[in-house]
Amino acid sequence: MKVAVIGATGAVGREMTRILQDRAFPVDGFVPLASARSEGLPVTFAGSEHRIHELTVEACRGVDVAFVSAGADIARRFLPEIAANGTLCIDNSSAFRMEPDVPLVIPAVNPEALVGWPEPGIISVPNCTTITAMLALAPLHRAARCTSLVMSSYQAVSGAGHKAIAELLEQVEKLRGDEEALAHPDVAALPSGPVMGRTIAYNVVPRIGAFQLDGFTGEEAKMMAEPRKILSAPELPVVATAVGSFREFLTDGVTARLIEPRDPPALVKALGDVLAQPDAATRMAQAARALAASTWSWAASAKATAELYETLARGGA
Ligand SMILES: NC(=O)c1ccc[n+]([C@@H]2O[C@H](COP(=O)([O-])OP(=O)(O)OC[C@H]3O[C@@H](n4cnc5c(N)ncnc54)[C@H](OP(=O)(O)O)[C@@H]3O)[C@@H](O)[C@H]2O)c1
Repeated sequence: MKVAVIGATGAVGREMTRILQDRAFPVDGFVPLASARSEGLPVTFAGSEHRIHELTVEACRGVDVAFVSAGADIARRFLPEIAANGTLCIDNSSAFRMEPDVPLVIPAVNPEALVGWPEPGIISVPNCTTITAMLALAPLHRAARCTSLVMSSYQAVSGAGHKAIAELLEQVEKLRGDEEALAHPDVAALPSGPVMGRTIAYNVVPRIGAFQLDGFTGEEAKMMAEPRKILSAPELPVVATAVGSFREFLTDGVTARLIEPRDPPALVKALGDVLAQPDAATRMAQAARALAASTWSWAASAKATAELYETLARGGA
């Protein structure tokens, strides 16, 4: 299979390249692509050295599958034509996520979205925070039909790409040794950079993406729209807060609240099922937080809640 990684120099592209190797994905032609700035840079795949080439429609001709993480603008500009030429494009950006005929898929959550989908074409991968939350919440929602969702996320700097990581490291370096002074900082003198806009070292910035007219940011808008499509629940009220946080370097934390589940026993069972899944460690943390946030509206199942907490504790949550 001929495979392209579009955005191969980026935070996501590099990780995708690594995962393709780790999973021994059946690749017999590897095509790493990025912007003209990266033309000729070396990248190692499966023991062989390859050179990055500039992304063009021609460079993707004959490619079976393209794993794409080069931002929404690039995706909009190139993917429709690349897909029309016969390449299956799996895109990490927000460009096509809400298009009605583009599947928005988390394999462990809604693989049914691909049933009957006419390949090739474009498949969208949800926002990373949506993915993390849905892994734990989708089974709970399906079991108990939650009536609303409140998502509060404190997101890793790495979510803004490799330049944001560099910005954070630079600021931490500049502030090293002055940590105590940060209790009463001279804000104007603090280092800041173009990606995060404000000082991100030792800080949280309650803005990810641009503010929209309704007061939410672009990131929050994604977090509110995508769960409805993934869960096939267009009426589900979802409200999201997205805060950029330096504390979590490579992971996101999500707290979700399930309000007034219509069927608490079914939800308890679903929580048990979530915890029994093989990669329960991540989901367990999510489920524990969801459960903690929902107990107040849920007095009738307090005993079951306590039992679940014990299960969580035994599992090391
Ligand atoms: N980071 C995350 O946790 C995360 C999670 C989910 C989804 N995403 C999404 O994935 C996408 C990439 O994110 P990232 O964090 O990997 O960003 P990143 O580290 O900034 O990497 C961006 C990539 O896009 C490439 N690119 C930029 N302009 C291009 C052009 N004109 N033609 C071809 N390639 C171009 C860059 O190549 P050069 O190096 O040549 O500039 C680089 O490889 C974004 O849409 C982001 O929202 C990110």
